[in-house]
Amino acid sequence: MAKLKTHFTCSTCGADSPKWLGKCPECGAWNSFTEQVAEPVSAAPRPGQRTSKTTIHAPAQPLQSIPLSLVEETAEFRLPSGYAELDRVLGGGIVPGSLVLIGGDPGIGKSTLLLQTAQLLSQRHRVLYVSAEESARQIKLRADRLLSEGSSLYLLAETDLEQVLLELEHLRPQVAMIDSIQAVYFGSLSSAPGSVSQVRECTAALMRVAKRENITLFLVGHVTKEGTLAGPRVLEHLVDTVLYFEGEQFQSHRLLRSVKNRFGATQEVGVFEMADRGLIEVENPSELFLSSREDSNPGTAAIVACEGTRPLVVELQALVSPTSYGSPRRTCTGIESNRFLQILAVLEKRVGIPLSKLDAYVASAGGLNVAEPAADLGVAVAIAASFRDRVVDPNTVLIGEVGLGGQVRAVSQVELRLKEAAKLGFTRAVLPKGYGGPSFGMQLTPVTKLLEALIVALPGAVAAPD
Ligand code: TYD
Ligand code: MG
Repeated sequence: MAKLKTHFTCSTCGADSPKWLGKCPECGAWNSFTEQVAEPVSAAPRPGQRTSKTTIHAPAQPLQSIPLSLVEETAEFRLPSGYAELDRVLGGGIVPGSLVLIGGDPGIGKSTLLLQTAQLLSQRHRVLYVSAEESARQIKLRADRLLSEGSSLYLLAETDLEQVLLELEHLRPQVAMIDSIQAVYFGSLSSAPGSVSQVRECTAALMRVAKRENITLFLVGHVTKEGTLAGPRVLEHLVDTVLYFEGEQFQSHRLLRSVKNRFGATQEVGVFEMADRGLIEVENPSELFLSSREDSNPGTAAIVACEGTRPLVVELQALVSPTSYGSPRRTCTGIESNRFLQILAVLEKRVGIPLSKLDAYVASAGGLNVAEPAADLGVAVAIAASFRDRVVDPNTVLIGEVGLGGQVRAVSQVELRLKEAAKLGFTRAVLPKGYGGPSFGMQLTPVTKLLEALIVALPGAVAAPD
């Protein structure tokens, strides 16, 4: 009997090696190599697979490349999913025949999102929902609770991928959902479901059938503890689009973010809210991240963050208080901690606000992650407002990056940000100097220094320089 050959695969990026390696040379992960036993090759070759008898000759008639300008143009056709937010993240709707991967933590709502989408799509198309994790009865119970309804949705509770492929070829749906790629398996492979080789083979087999039958496929992928999709690059390379579904456990809003998209921009964001009857689209997400502006507290400031091309008005809250410990506490939620510490230092050194003996806390309302520098000015103003116990004018938004020298730097997409703020009723914006676009009816106050911004936003609270 032929000896089965073993090789080693990196569980993070899928890199292969004939021997075990402590550190992956491709992705740098430690201890990620696991042994894989080479699978016995089945007698029947898969379509397109070379058999050992095939010899590789140069083709008698070489294939001809064609100039790009001569490639026939076909009008791009997109299928509306029924969810405007999902369409936006996909780059304007579903591209027929594409392969979309949806990743996210367990319990975040991936199955709910796909089931609702399947129901909406099934009003006009034939849709197959394959659940490898729940029984058909469980899915039916869930579907009955959801708001959306579908007429021709087909369900298949199956983990054996051979059966799933047969059903895809038999039913020939326009759209199919596989929930999840880690739970389906090929019985002919010896490795466990969810292992790198299973995930890779299953995805490749699904892709072959989908491309042949022109089926749009949505795959659910689980995320590992480290926050990457299990067997991540293996999957991410194969598929056309990768979306991440994110959210906090105790908050109801969910963000659907594109991290790879062959048919549209990445970092585009869709906003949903998890309710009793499933996921509801949030048309005006800024309202979600903005608490009532009537009862403003000292230390709150409004900023406009941009998620992809989507502006979101977010309220930042700061609290500074005398420390009761030896070294002051610095805690931030929703903003980057390095920027936060930098802003505290700039406020102390350039503006003269003595913060080194004070505890400082900053949080974004709704726990939204605002990682961009355009939030700096808002963070600085909120901290200064809390220090002086002043309320920032609730109709003012703050836009700008703060440099180490205390200067306010230009940021991108100012026009988009101003438009969103104006839409929500803000009447004044403090922004970096140099913007020459429309004001959308707002009073614009350009500034070059953080001190100027503080004087404008907190009149009387910060002394102007001599
Ligand atoms: P689910 O879609 O099963 O998550 P995933 O597939 O990502 O693991 O969502 C599970 C959570 O969503 C569960 O904790 C309950 C909650 N949920 C609601 O709050 N409302 C609903 O209508 C549904 C269907 C689920
Ligand atoms: Mg699920």
